[in-house]
Amino acid sequence: TVHYLKDYRSPAYEVCKTDLHFDIFDSHTQVKSRLVVNPKRAGEPLVLDGSAELLSLKIDGETVAYELDLANEKLTVRDVPSESFVVEVETRLLPQENKSLMGLYESGGNLFTQCEPEGFRKMTFYPDRPDVMSKFTTTITADKKRYPVLLSNGNKIDGGNLSDGRHWVKWVDPFAKPSYLFALVAGDLAVTKDTFTTQSGREVAVEFYTTEADKPKVPFAVESLKHAMKWDEARFGLEYDLDVFMVVAVGDFNMGAMENKGLNIFNTKYVLADSQTATDADFEGIESVIGHEYFHNWTGNRVTCRDWFQLSLKEGLTVFRDQEFSGDRAGREVRRIENVRLLRQHQFPEDAGPTAHPVRPASYEEMNNFYTMTVYEKGAEVVRMYHTLLGEEGFQKGMKLYFQRHDGQAVTCDDFRAAMADANGVNLDQFALWYSQAGTPVLAVTGRLKDNGDYVLNVKQSIPATPDMAEKQPMMMPLKVALLDAESGVQTAFGYQGAIVNEAVLVVTEAEQEFTLAGVGRKVVPSLLRGFSAPVHLNYPYSDAELALLLSHDTDAFARWEAAQTLYRRAVGANEHALSQGVPLPGHGELLAAVGYVLRADVNPAFKTLLLQVPSESELWADGSDIDPMRVYRAREALLDLIAQTYANEIAELRLTAQDQEEQGGGEVYEYEPDRAGWRVLRNAMRALALRAEPKTIDFIALEYDKMAQNMTHEWGMLSAANHHESGKRNELLDKFAAKFADDALVMDKYFTLIGSSRRSDTLQQVQTALSHLKFSLENPNKARSLLGAFSRNVPHFHAENGSGYAFLAGKVLEIDRFNPQVAARLVQAFNICNKLEPKRRALMRAELQGIAAQEGLSKDVAEIVGKILA
Ligand code: ARG
Ligand code: ZN
Repeated sequence: TVHYLKDYRSPAYEVCKTDLHFDIFDSHTQVKSRLVVNPKRAGEPLVLDGSAELLSLKIDGETVAYELDLANEKLTVRDVPSESFVVEVETRLLPQENKSLMGLYESGGNLFTQCEPEGFRKMTFYPDRPDVMSKFTTTITADKKRYPVLLSNGNKIDGGNLSDGRHWVKWVDPFAKPSYLFALVAGDLAVTKDTFTTQSGREVAVEFYTTEADKPKVPFAVESLKHAMKWDEARFGLEYDLDVFMVVAVGDFNMGAMENKGLNIFNTKYVLADSQTATDADFEGIESVIGHEYFHNWTGNRVTCRDWFQLSLKEGLTVFRDQEFSGDRAGREVRRIENVRLLRQHQFPEDAGPTAHPVRPASYEEMNNFYTMTVYEKGAEVVRMYHTLLGEEGFQKGMKLYFQRHDGQAVTCDDFRAAMADANGVNLDQFALWYSQAGTPVLAVTGRLKDNGDYVLNVKQSIPATPDMAEKQPMMMPLKVALLDAESGVQTAFGYQGAIVNEAVLVVTEAEQEFTLAGVGRKVVPSLLRGFSAPVHLNYPYSDAELALLLSHDTDAFARWEAAQTLYRRAVGANEHALSQGVPLPGHGELLAAVGYVLRADVNPAFKTLLLQVPSESELWADGSDIDPMRVYRAREALLDLIAQTYANEIAELRLTAQDQEEQGGGEVYEYEPDRAGWRVLRNAMRALALRAEPKTIDFIALEYDKMAQNMTHEWGMLSAANHHESGKRNELLDKFAAKFADDALVMDKYFTLIGSSRRSDTLQQVQTALSHLKFSLENPNKARSLLGAFSRNVPHFHAENGSGYAFLAGKVLEIDRFNPQVAARLVQAFNICNKLEPKRRALMRAELQGIAAQEGLSKDVAEIVGKILA
């Protein structure tokens, strides 16, 4: 069944109160629910969502007739009272057998829930939709030894012992919420406690639940949470609203984390860290995900979504907020470029592929398929555009009005846009197109100096057709610009809208439009789309020399980085062309000069590392057709080899500088700290380039390994550099690593990622062997993603000419689909590129996709994706 946004109807029945009762036993769990229901449109049938084993259903104490539609998971009662009534439902669950990790499931002997978006219906029958908001109480009973900790949303108000060694607790959540924010945890967990005092002086208990053994790895996450709580008060004036904030870490989890009211449940990957087992990037990931889930308490929980089409209302906004949090914590400019890289590497291809959809999708078959880069990351860019158009002050006014109007409600993206517009007295009607039109807009810009000294920018916008829509209308977007003197590179003032400025935000609204920057009077190079002010492709006919000028002189970090990226893209393109013609590769004089400049430039090390990164294959071929993946891969590798060889000495030197600087910070060298992390990332990048230029330096890495292996960032740097080496030394290093961390599940994920991403010729064989590794489990999403996700991005192996990579992945997709459709549907998206491939590979891939589509009992998750690719 396909669900359409246009079919939305408000609920016929509201649930004023929800009392849940979970009785947990070794063999099963029994759930009793008691709902106080109020008709909004009396006379309509009462429709509940559910797929659990139903034991009994009563209305006002009487059993009633109902229809059960198993395929659509709907229970319908036609004859219901016309005034307020009580529904009682009893169901029976088998959490130990639930490998989908939705609803109630077991992991490591403990029980956890995941309800968003539609997991609640796996536990009981309920109007499982976000616009039904209810006050919940939850009573849990269980064996006291096996399940000493019993958690749910809100505040614990009571509890005690029962006979037979059992105990009970009762939780009350004072805030009305939709069912997707419900959570329950039962198990033998250790707690790490702290407190946070809010700006109004209330003390909040902070509790992190993990295994006893993992307790030493919790402090960084606790600190991150307290930083996030403080930041949301300082930047947005938003304070926490319950007496306790709990975070529970679980090793089996489909996504990163979940913002259940007062009881966040996290993938262990985003909670546990110490410097021996987590890289600096892992620490940064924890800070950002902890922030993200915490910020949902206001943007998601207090104000929630009317329906799942509106998902970006909470996700785009909350990603924007977590990006701002990370930026305010440290390295704003570098963080911004990292956001852009993520968007380009993963969202741009999505927007140009068979599953392209707007930030607010118009239809879906399986909602889980819409937790996408478009809804999250492009959604965050859409929110950032409001911020760029209105400024910090205007944006905050909009946020204030949004909460004033909608606290406690389930609303739409239009409501958010209206709050932004009304609070600032501006018209944002045209801006609505960002929510309904998919595809990455293209801006074609040219500039000319007029005789009177004015500089005129001509901006043409076009939006490519996507499978859901052919014709598109021009959108409204901020284009941030500055001008650099063409000789000196110095930023030049100009007149715009009656003021003399150094930078302006042009508001693009038309298919073609001209903007006059007055009184320039000299040759300039325009600096465009500064800060990546809109999620678009921007084309301007820069010469290589102009790009070099932007790279060395622009004051906007994104624009500098983008100049380098454009030079790399051109160089890889030239290599590709030469490879296709069978002629020698070009010498790339201009590009090498630019790289030389970057290696010497006095810029912060994390930024320098970004400037040295060549765009990934997925980004390079995002808009291509008839793609030969191996040719793009070879063209890119050749460029990296050239850079590594040309600058071998400078690279070696920079590597030593980075090492010295890292150690100069004083104190404990190995702890995570943003400045030091910058030097470490540079050091690792230089190590990889050095090994590329001189493969025999693997001996040096092998020698260094034991000494350096006291910090996962170093260890990871060494192993990921050595990972592609064909020698036995590489295998020895990986074996050593796996033996050392055999009992650390998160580090073993890194081991499997190394296996899956190696360019070595025997990679497919090693991946197959890894499947039966003692520490591997296909049922654990982190493991499946590490090994198989990495393999699906491994260009030379996934795209092997004989189709072995495609066949292998297709087989695993089918295997996983039998128990965890959500993970399978993620993996199968590696095939999204199918129709853009050259004919031979396209045919090989299609054959695999047809095989998947023909599978009996295929989940709707995978069927929806495969159907779109084959359409
Ligand atoms: N709301 C969560 C977050 O972004 C994601 C949960 C998605 N879960 C899922 N099974 N699709 O923080
Ligand atoms: Zn989220």
